[in-house]
Amino acid sequence: MSATPKIAVFASGSGSNFQAIYDAMKAGDLTGSIALVVTDKPNAFVVERASIAGIETLAIKPANYPSKEAYEHVILQKLSELQVEWIILAGYMRLIGDVLLEAYPNRIINIHPSLLPSFPGKDAIGQAMAHGVKVTGVTVHYVDAGMDTGPILAQAAVTVVDGDREKTEARIHEVEHELYTKTLNQLFSL
Ligand code: GRF
Repeated sequence: MSATPKIAVFASGSGSNFQAIYDAMKAGDLTGSIALVVTDKPNAFVVERASIAGIETLAIKPANYPSKEAYEHVILQKLSELQVEWIILAGYMRLIGDVLLEAYPNRIINIHPSLLPSFPGKDAIGQAMAHGVKVTGVTVHYVDAGMDTGPILAQAAVTVVDGDREKTEARIHEVEHELYTKTLNQLFSL
């Protein structure tokens, strides 16, 4: 692997984790560069963030392709052209399929807003609040074919604030931004 790894960030939403990674790289706190943002949601705010940062975006809707394989082949083609070494998922709301998993073995990382294996899948924060847990958190993990099931790289706990979703979510995002950049830095310097 190169000394300054090239990554692609996959996102479907606001992109605050993309922003945190970009800012950390710009500040010299995280080694590497973002070659591409991939989104399945062309109207997602992450597209605007990428444009402001001057980073190329591939906005690609799975519904326009006959299969997941065909969709991922188009993404893979672009990743190969740009010599991307790592795929970093940051709020990408789809399961990664065989085409990308086989092309990037142990090179796809995800962040999830719970202490896995508790509360995998959608709305992990809502699931945790509904369950009445007092402590939840953030997990960074390798991606496999399952839903938030790959080997865990790092975790951090977050106390549920007064049963208040908004406050808890804000704290989770802060912890995510810190934990993701720190964990990626460790991984990239192996
Ligand atoms: C984060 O909570 C992340 O853990 C989850 O999706 C959310 C994305 O947030 N997978 P953002 O788009 O990075 O702001």
